[in-house]
Amino acid sequence: MGRTFLGLGVLAMLGLLTGADAVACPGRYKGFDGKCYGFFPGGSYPEAVRFCSRQGAQLYMMRNPTEVFRLKQLLSKQPLKSFWVGLTDENTSRTWAWSNGDALGVGDFTDWGNPADNDDQACVYARKESGYKWAVTGCGQKKAFICKKDP
Ligand SMILES: *[C@@H]1O[C@H](CO)[C@@H](O)[C@H](O)[C@H]1NC(C)=O
Repeated sequence: MGRTFLGLGVLAMLGLLTGADAVACPGRYKGFDGKCYGFFPGGSYPEAVRFCSRQGAQLYMMRNPTEVFRLKQLLSKQPLKSFWVGLTDENTSRTWAWSNGDALGVGDFTDWGNPADNDDQACVYARKESGYKWAVTGCGQKKAFICKKDP
């Protein structure tokens, strides 16, 4: 009990010193707001989904405005040219679906750079040139991606 408390205290201090969150994450994952995020260089959308899933993670979904704001702050220091948003309408009969299968709801956060053209064969990515606003491309394109998991 006392030992656990001490351990948490040390982690919290490290967090203050480095500006990171007190989250221990494996390998290439970085702790942020109580979750672990891994940044990976490139794959098609289906490859990214499978890769994250094999790591016990989920292809990151750019759907929480607060989290997106913080992610953009992080990316201002280590920019990615573009990355998958975790949203696709390929194989979902003209409705947008998040990487966990949820449909994009009417009140959901969206950040389209160009109007979404729902051509039924597309995956959404965030573009650095437009401040990481969303654009649509073929799901077979190679893009960087982010896996998210619990510590
Ligand atoms: C859509 O379905 C095809 C055929 O099953 C599959 O190869 C592809 O990866 C799927 N696309 C996505 C984005 O999941």
